[in-house]
Amino acid sequence: MITINQDSCCGCGKCADICRPRLFTESNGKMQLKDTQSCMKCGHCFSICPTGAISMFNISPSDPSLLPQSPIQSLIMNRHSVRRFKQTPLSHAVLSNLINWTRFCPSACNSRPLLFSVVNLLLKPELEQILQQKHKELFGKPFESPSNERVLRTAPHAIIVKANTQCKCIYDPQEDACIALNTIELKAVEQGLGTYWCGLLQIAMKDAEVKKMCGVADGEKVLGVLCVGEPDVKFERPAAREEVKITWVE
Ligand SMILES: Cc1cc2nc3c(=O)[nH]c(=O)nc-3n(C[C@H](O)[C@H](O)[C@H](O)COP(=O)(O)O)c2cc1C
Ligand code: SF4
Ligand code: SF4
Repeated sequence: MITINQDSCCGCGKCADICRPRLFTESNGKMQLKDTQSCMKCGHCFSICPTGAISMFNISPSDPSLLPQSPIQSLIMNRHSVRRFKQTPLSHAVLSNLINWTRFCPSACNSRPLLFSVVNLLLKPELEQILQQKHKELFGKPFESPSNERVLRTAPHAIIVKANTQCKCIYDPQEDACIALNTIELKAVEQGLGTYWCGLLQIAMKDAEVKKMCGVADGEKVLGVLCVGEPDVKFERPAAREEVKITWVE
C-alpha cells in the first residue's frame, strides 16, 4: 500500500516524525516501513514528504488527481488534521469570525440549536494532565505519540460545539454540529490555520469538572470539539486516499 522510493528519499525523517503509530525506521540514511499492519492510512507521510518519495494506494505525488481544480477543491483537499501548533493565541476577532461562518450552514428546521465555547488551552495546562489520566482509563495505557506530542497536540484553542439539552427540535443537533465544525475547518484552511477534531477532550467532558473548565454549563450537551491554531507543520500535498465505495440504486 505504501512504497518509499529509496533513490528520492533524503532521510529527513519527516515521515517518521508525523506517523502516529511510529511505523518508520531509518537504515543507512534512508527511510523504510517496519510495519504496515498498524497503518491508519491517514496519508500524512505521503503529504509531508518534501521529495515526493512516498507513494500510496498506487498514487504517486505527481498524480494529476492531487491537483485541485477549483478553490473549494483546494480547501477540501488541503485540510489535514494538524497536531503541532505554534504557541501563539489567536485573537477573539479571528476566532469569532471563523465560528460566525456557521450561520450559513444548513440546520434541521432552521432551529440553529448550536452554542459555542472557545477555550484558551494555553491558559489551562492542567487539562493536559487530566486528559493523560483519561487516556489511561479509556485505553488502559498511557498516551504515547511521536516527538513527545501531547494529548491536546499543543493546540492553543479548543472550539466546543454544544446544545441545550432542552432543545425542542425533533432532530438530533449532532448533525448540525458536525456540519458546523467542518465548515469552520475549511474556513480555517483558507486562512492558513490548522485544526483537528479532539474526540478525547469531548469524551473527557463527560466529567463535570472538565465540562466546567471548558465553559459548558449544566443543561448543555457537548456535540464536538475542534482544536485550532497556527500550524507548526507543513504539508506538501493532499493525502492519498482510496476511492469511496458507492452502492448505486437505479
Ligand atoms: C469525531 C472525530 C474525533 C477525532 N478525535 C481525534 C483525537 O482525539 N485526536 C486526534 O489527534 N485526532 C482526532 N481525530 C482526527 C482523525 O484522527 C483524522 O481525521 C484522521 O486520522 C484522518 O486524517 P485527516 O484529518 O488528516 O484527513 C478525530 C476525528 C474525528 C472525525
Ligand atoms: S519524508 Fe520522504 S524524504 Fe524524508 S525521510 Fe521520509 S520518505 Fe525520506
Ligand atoms: S499513512 Fe499514516 S499511519 Fe500509515 S505510515 Fe503513513 S503516517 Fe503512518
